[in-house]
Amino acid sequence: MGTDMSRWPYPRVVAHRGGGTLAPENTLAAIRHGASMGFRGVEFDVMLARDGTPILIHDETLERTTSGHGSVPALDYADIERFDAGGWHSGSFRGERVPTFVAAANLCRELGLWANVEIKPAKGYEVQTGRVAAQLTLDLWRGAPLQPVVSSFSVDSLEMARQVAPGLPRGLLVSKIPPDWEARMEKLGCVALHCNYKELTEALAGSVHAAGYALLCWTVNDPVDAARLFEWGVDCIVTDRLDLIGADFQG
Ligand code: G3P
Ligand code: MG
Repeated sequence: MGTDMSRWPYPRVVAHRGGGTLAPENTLAAIRHGASMGFRGVEFDVMLARDGTPILIHDETLERTTSGHGSVPALDYADIERFDAGGWHSGSFRGERVPTFVAAANLCRELGLWANVEIKPAKGYEVQTGRVAAQLTLDLWRGAPLQPVVSSFSVDSLEMARQVAPGLPRGLLVSKIPPDWEARMEKLGCVALHCNYKELTEALAGSVHAAGYALLCWTVNDPVDAARLFEWGVDCIVTDRLDLIGADFQG
C-alpha cells in the first residue's frame, strides 16, 4: 500500500521527544536539534505542573531527566524550571530547562515544524490535561499551514480534547492494537492509530487502512524495521535515531 497524503498530510518521519537520543528529550534544544537535522516534524509529551502550567516531560517524576526530585503534579512550574534538564544527557546540554508547552509550540512555529502533541497526563489529571493541551494547541497553532495531531493513551484526555477542540485531529495511542480498536477509534473520532511497531502485523496495518484510518508507529530505530513498516503502508514513524533514519527516509 502506498502513501496516501489525504490520510496523512503530515511528515512521514518524526523525531521522538524532539531530537530522539541525540539531545535531552522534551527540551527546546531537542526540538532545535531535530530541526537542524532536517526533520520537519517532532513528537513531544505534555503534562501539567501543580499550578496548571503545561510542560514538556515524559515521566511523572523528575529524577530521570532533570536534576530535581519528586512528582511533576506536586510542584509548580516555577520550581521545576530551576532544575537542569540537559546535564543528564551530556555536558554540552547542561543548563537546558524543562520548557513550557507554549515555548515549545512557539519554537515549532518559528522553525516551521509540524508537531505531534502527546497528551501525557499525570495519574488523576487526565481530563484537565486534555482540556489545557487541546485548547492551547488550538490557540498556538492558529493559522498554521498544518495543524498538529494531538494523541494520548488516555481515553479521558482524548474525549476532553474532542470537546474543546473538535476540529483538531486526534490519534489514539496504544501499545498493542486491541481487538476492539475500530470501535474505540470511532467513539473517540480519531484520525490515526499510534501503535508500538513491535505489535503491528501487515494484516493489521491493512485493516486499519481499510477502515480509513492513518497509522503511526513508534519508536522505530532500525532502518530495516522502518523500511518494512513503510512497505506495509504505515503512514508515519517516530524515531529516536535521527542519525540512522533521516527525515526523508523512504525504505
Ligand atoms: O507518541 C509516541 C510515543 O512517544 C509514545 O510513547 O512513552 O515515548 O511517550 P512514549
Ligand atoms: Mg511520547
